[in-house]
Amino acid sequence: MSTQSEPNRPTALRTHLCGVLTSDDIGATVRLCGWVARRREHGEHLAFVDLRDHSGIVQCVIDGTVEARSEWVVAVHGTVRARPEGTVNPGLATGRIEIGDCTVEVLNEADPPPFPVDDRAEADEPVRLRHRYVDLRRPHMQRNLRLRSKVNAALRAAMARQGFVEIETPLLWAPTPEGSREFSVPSRLHHGNFYALPQSPQLAKQLLMVGGFDRYYQIARCLRDEDLRADRQFEFMQLDLECSFASQDDVMGFVSEAVLDAAEAATGERPPPIERITWADALDRFGTDKPDLRFGMELVDLTEVFAQTGVKAFSSPTTKAIVVPGGAAFPRSRLDELTDQAKRAGAAGLAWFKVVESGGAGPGPALDGPLARHLSAEETVRLLERTGAVAGDLVLVVSDRHATACTVLGTLRTAIGGPPVSEGPHRYVWVVDFPMFEEGADGRPQPAHHPFTMPYAEDLARLATDPLSVRSQAYDLVLNGWELGSGSVRIHRKEVQEQVFAALGIEQAEAERRFGFLLGAFRYGAPPHAGFAVGLDRLAAILAGEENIREVIAYPKTQSGADLLTGAPAPLPAASLAELGIRVVVPPAR
Ligand code: AMO
Repeated sequence: MSTQSEPNRPTALRTHLCGVLTSDDIGATVRLCGWVARRREHGEHLAFVDLRDHSGIVQCVIDGTVEARSEWVVAVHGTVRARPEGTVNPGLATGRIEIGDCTVEVLNEADPPPFPVDDRAEADEPVRLRHRYVDLRRPHMQRNLRLRSKVNAALRAAMARQGFVEIETPLLWAPTPEGSREFSVPSRLHHGNFYALPQSPQLAKQLLMVGGFDRYYQIARCLRDEDLRADRQFEFMQLDLECSFASQDDVMGFVSEAVLDAAEAATGERPPPIERITWADALDRFGTDKPDLRFGMELVDLTEVFAQTGVKAFSSPTTKAIVVPGGAAFPRSRLDELTDQAKRAGAAGLAWFKVVESGGAGPGPALDGPLARHLSAEETVRLLERTGAVAGDLVLVVSDRHATACTVLGTLRTAIGGPPVSEGPHRYVWVVDFPMFEEGADGRPQPAHHPFTMPYAEDLARLATDPLSVRSQAYDLVLNGWELGSGSVRIHRKEVQEQVFAALGIEQAEAERRFGFLLGAFRYGAPPHAGFAVGLDRLAAILAGEENIREVIAYPKTQSGADLLTGAPAPLPAASLAELGIRVVVPPAR
């Protein structure tokens, strides 16, 4: 008999798990518990029950009939034996054995399931979510949530090993300015006043630094009222950390170790050390601050090629291109779609050239496309040289402001060449040296990270005069084109924080009102500090090979923010509203 490891320790109702029994267990008397995956009866004298628990399925043989249907909860008592010659099932982990001489005790009956509890059967997501407790029984959900638990355990172990202290921070708190809309909670005791649910523990953890906890971490629940997407939910989890007397490199070291440990725990393989790229290079080469390094199609700079051009479309400050291997075969409709996509991303237009054999008109390949004949011979040759494009390729060119040319081509690069996020190798990359501010729609600076990020010391002088040129000590961790986490060295001095608020147009009085508690704390011995937060849902999803974080969350919301299982959000009874001092002005649309 195999020795049962600690996780498989017997409990009152069962001796073994179904899926771990092997030929080594032959002869053992076992009592198994689980759900009926399948039942087959052969007349009155022979019946089979495939019994499922989270570890897998085992075949149980009953000499008689059995009163149990699909998804009933049963306990089976019997003896492990080898399957008879010719009935071995190589597709099943327990396929060499079966449980013989079984007696079946029904622990609970069940209605027929709303969909088959089997990964091979497709089920509509709304039906899955409405009956999530049944969906969770399916092997891939079992695998995903268990993988996520391993990831959490590995992260916790890595943080503890590196000297971090786990501290919980409140969910009912004050608003913090991290750029997202917050969920508000009305106060019953102070009518007209509201708590904010934290977008992250950002300010709480900075205050812990002032409080002398120089290495803090938490697996923290964060809440943001923003539009939901494949990689976004209202509530999500972060591995949140902060440390004092530490540099950007220190933080990146702590985070790398924790994340690589988690990846190893989940996949069995430790990824190589994480490479780095600057924000400016990421934009130049990949057209995004979330570069996906799994494929090429890097942006090529053609500004110099067209420096003296007579082609008006190429006379903007920056001209860049990407090469689509084999793209010369794209039909016109696809090219029109790409042009529309480029325009939606902010470009004035998209120029495309198909690279064709010159057909004797000259040496080497030639260009074909609406603008091809407007290019000088030298421009054509140099474009081909610079891009390295060969016959059969497609060259897409955007000429615009630098940032626009880059981001538009970055969008097209991902749309054309990007594999699904979970496919292929896991390519982690640190993106460093973010700008401090981005230009908002109103032309005013907006924080690129958040307003507590420390600018580079040598750039401080330009805060008032040229804020958009100021670099910050902020860094992101990116995996396969998804932002996995972000962090920064923080401002710990009141006067620098006030300068940044001023650059953002936040008046002193407003700063006092909104973050007075932080500025106040900075007067009482705030150490230099830096931190980071990793999005755990995203990490778990990619490690589990899923495209949507809903697949690694037990009870996710739908795209429209509904919880189909419980029916939330729902109206409050009038009495509850009165107790909270709230009058609903517009009744919710029903
Ligand atoms: P940031 O806002 O970049 O930084 O968030 C850090 C990481 O959290 C994850 N994340 C989300 N995951 C799922 N759904 C969402 N709606 C969602 N929003 C964010 C992402 C993201 O990279 N306080 C700072 C961190 C710091 O500076 O220490 C912060 O929260 O993976």
